Amino acid sequence: MAQLNDNYLKLKAGYLFPEIGRRVKAFTEAHPEAVKRLIRCGIGDVTEPLPSVVVMAMHRAVDEMAVRDSFKGYGPEQGYEWLRSAIAGTDFRAKGLDVADDEVFVSDGSKCDCGAILDILGSKNRLAITDPVYPVYVDTNVMAGHTGEADALGAYAGIRYLPCTAANGFTSEPPLEPVDVIYLCSPNNPTGATLSREQLRDWVAYALKHRAIILFDAAYEAYISDPSVPHSIYEIPGARECSIEFRSFSKNGGFTGVRCAYTVVPKSLQASTADGEFRSLHPLWSRRMTTKFNGVSYIVQRAAEALYTVEGQAQIRALVAHYMGNAALLVSGARTAGHTVFGGINVPYIWVSAPSGYTSWQAFDRILGEANVVITPGSGFGSNGEGWFRVSGFNSRANAEEVSQRLQALRW
Ligand code: MLT
Repeated sequence: MAQLNDNYLKLKAGYLFPEIGRRVKAFTEAHPEAVKRLIRCGIGDVTEPLPSVVVMAMHRAVDEMAVRDSFKGYGPEQGYEWLRSAIAGTDFRAKGLDVADDEVFVSDGSKCDCGAILDILGSKNRLAITDPVYPVYVDTNVMAGHTGEADALGAYAGIRYLPCTAANGFTSEPPLEPVDVIYLCSPNNPTGATLSREQLRDWVAYALKHRAIILFDAAYEAYISDPSVPHSIYEIPGARECSIEFRSFSKNGGFTGVRCAYTVVPKSLQASTADGEFRSLHPLWSRRMTTKFNGVSYIVQRAAEALYTVEGQAQIRALVAHYMGNAALLVSGARTAGHTVFGGINVPYIWVSAPSGYTSWQAFDRILGEANVVITPGSGFGSNGEGWFRVSGFNSRANAEEVSQRLQALRW
């Protein structure tokens, strides 16, 4: 008798974004007249066309694939050397950070890597996860059987939730007790909060003390405008001994549909075997990639490489400026409407308080029903997100302006 993975049955609801899609579909079926007016600011999906350097690089790569002498079959599972070298050289070594080319693993997305990394970690690790949080960190641990059941509030046994609230600026200090694996995301999705150098130092010191591992999600790194905010956890001395960093081309190069990201696994990062012997994780991740992954397509890797040219870096800055301009409009609209607003400074998400008496989903329903705008309910990111909602600045300028107006026109 074949058995299913019972852990999937512990998952509380559908993944947040499909759940939003389901509700929006139900709404538009009931109100077809609203379809034209609908503006989607739910999932953080890019809207602007690919940078021209990317398009040209892809065209060139397609032409190479069309000719016998330059055709490519399987590439290296960890990524082509020229891309790993461009990444390590530009994103790290040029900034004084010690990351070798072969510590960079190119993949098809940070979401995938955040889930896949659990393959090389044990199942008994004590987890610390901020709340609210990008739901993938929690759900992938549930699927892997690293948690117990969820309670009535949706909190899973075995996870040490770190509450992030308006009172602590939506950031958390390390817990008093030891944990083994810590998820940090800065700039933060969904709240827009960033971890300062001092806060990251505390986390690295904690991880070194407890021989824990920090899984550091820096998918929104390109959006950092505050010069005091670290772009990489490797800016903190000691982080190479305790951290894995995830980066993505989705939000800086507009690759959500193209698919390319990378993960840094330093060779100096070790974890304990069941017998208490410390071993490097780098060969395990390499083994995992070569066994379960066939690499990102040549065409896409050439596209990612183009982002590291002078022109490519300028085109990233233009995209970032566009989305951050939208975020500024949304912040101003939501504040004028009387909401408390976080975020919108180092990430193009704004994190908005629902009016008193409204849950996140109730606010979602009213904003959808009356303003015909899709937002993301904060409670979908964790129980501490209740009473908040996220509005994404990934949109056209015209839509961001319109959403800003509609938020102001809503009478609660
Ligand atoms: C989000 O809306 O939180 C992100 O787009 C999801 C993702 O990057 O997977």
